[in-house]
Amino acid sequence: MLYDVIKKYRCALRFHTPGAKGRVYKYDKTLEWGIPADLLELDITELEYSDNLLIRAGILKVASENAANYFGADKCFFITSGATTAILSAVYSFKRNDGVKAKNNGGGTTGGIFISKNSHISVYNAIEITGLNSIIIDSCVDNYANGVNNADKVSADSVCASNGYSDLPTLEQIESAFKRHKGVKVLLLTSPNYYGKVLDIKSIYALCKKYSVTFILDAAHGAHFKELAGLKVSDLIKNPTQYSDICILSAHKTLPVLTGGAFLNVSERADYTKGLVNRVDASLKKFHTTSPSYPCLITLDLSIHYLQSKGAAAYASLFQRVSALKQRLDKLKHIKVLDTDDFTRLVLKTKCAKALESHLVANRIYPELTDLARVVFIITPADTESELDTLYSVLEAFDIARENDVRESVTSTTASHDNTSVDNTGVDNIAVGKGDLDLIDALGKTSVYNVGIYPPATPVILKGEVVTKKHIKILSQFKGRIYGLQNGKIAVYDSIEH
Ligand SMILES: Cc1ncc(COP(=O)(O)O)c(C=O)c1O
Repeated sequence: MLYDVIKKYRCALRFHTPGAKGRVYKYDKTLEWGIPADLLELDITELEYSDNLLIRAGILKVASENAANYFGADKCFFITSGATTAILSAVYSFKRNDGVKAKNNGGGTTGGIFISKNSHISVYNAIEITGLNSIIIDSCVDNYANGVNNADKVSADSVCASNGYSDLPTLEQIESAFKRHKGVKVLLLTSPNYYGKVLDIKSIYALCKKYSVTFILDAAHGAHFKELAGLKVSDLIKNPTQYSDICILSAHKTLPVLTGGAFLNVSERADYTKGLVNRVDASLKKFHTTSPSYPCLITLDLSIHYLQSKGAAAYASLFQRVSALKQRLDKLKHIKVLDTDDFTRLVLKTKCAKALESHLVANRIYPELTDLARVVFIITPADTESELDTLYSVLEAFDIARENDVRESVTSTTASHDNTSVDNTGVDNIAVGKGDLDLIDALGKTSVYNVGIYPPATPVILKGEVVTKKHIKILSQFKGRIYGLQNGKIAVYDSIEH
């Protein structure tokens, strides 16, 4: 049974979500990092004393006001079905009621949303449900192809490009898209990304204000960021809520919150965002379950109290532990610590990422994600010095073994992609017929759906994009982690009428 399988691994070292890392404590007015042990007994429903999540007139109103105050938002909505629900609700609040379809009228597409290719699958789903036109600000920069093939100098985002995941967009690319599509007034970007890299959201937000564009920030991986602000970290680590109109925080990923717990922060700071809180509220009522998990709501509330009272000290101490770990790791030969803006995201690069993952798993250590070149670990205040020591010892053993047995590894591959904006709306209208093929046979055909790798659940091939050799090469190395295929086959159009 599922229970037995999960229980069997409960003593493993967890460097993945949820951020609570299985820590349980006896809550007695003193907050600790973890989940109160008696939470299962508190699994109730909306009652006279427990308020109603979608109306909020009692204790949930108080809790969400406290959270809004902490983040600096006008409103903080609690969610128990993940950042996915927050994203669906945020994007849906921009749904047009007049049914206008994609139109290129010389001034660019109207009534759409700007996104970057590295958006999470939920963003693409939200766009499909909402019927908005998507303008993809592509920023795939292949630093390897540009000759920066030096492992010591390569940062997490440039390796990202080498794996076929789209890189982070630049300010220039965003502004150029704004200029080309003047009728599009919503931008949704992801920062930080899965690899702990952040965008300059302060400048992007200023740019949005200049063009009256509402900025939705998918900061799913940055729920803990406010507590990093005082530490010796990049200036780009700021409070994401402060620099966005809608900010989505997947609390369960990095905070002591039960899986599914997320915050959706909304602020109306400009004329063009008037009414946004009510619109998002109305959307949320369409997507959120009417039976929210109270244990999850309780942990969302407790996490804010924890951050307010103990966050600064907890992250300052974690910073010391992680810095010490990274210093030791820097001495290893076959594993490189990549640059991240968020020090709690440990990203290791190695020529044999899959072998490293197997070695970790054999030692009952579970990272969050492995791709062709990197292994990603999520570290939270739950992780003690002795656990980080264990992690180091296991990594060191791998390094020593590699020294004696260096194998030639994967060469760099990059998803080829136009470096200008892609408007992939309207494909449905012009494509004729479709069939399902093995990936290998789909070369040169147009994909019907987005096809990507999970995690991080970002696309490699976009809907309407022609399948290339590089796409096939990348995807074929992630068997079992690919989304967008049906029974292992890719849906392609027979032909596209031009
Ligand atoms: C960037 C990003 N956004 C949104 C989500 C969805 O978050 P959730 O799992 O809380 O629904 C994820 C999940 O991994 C993510 O990585």
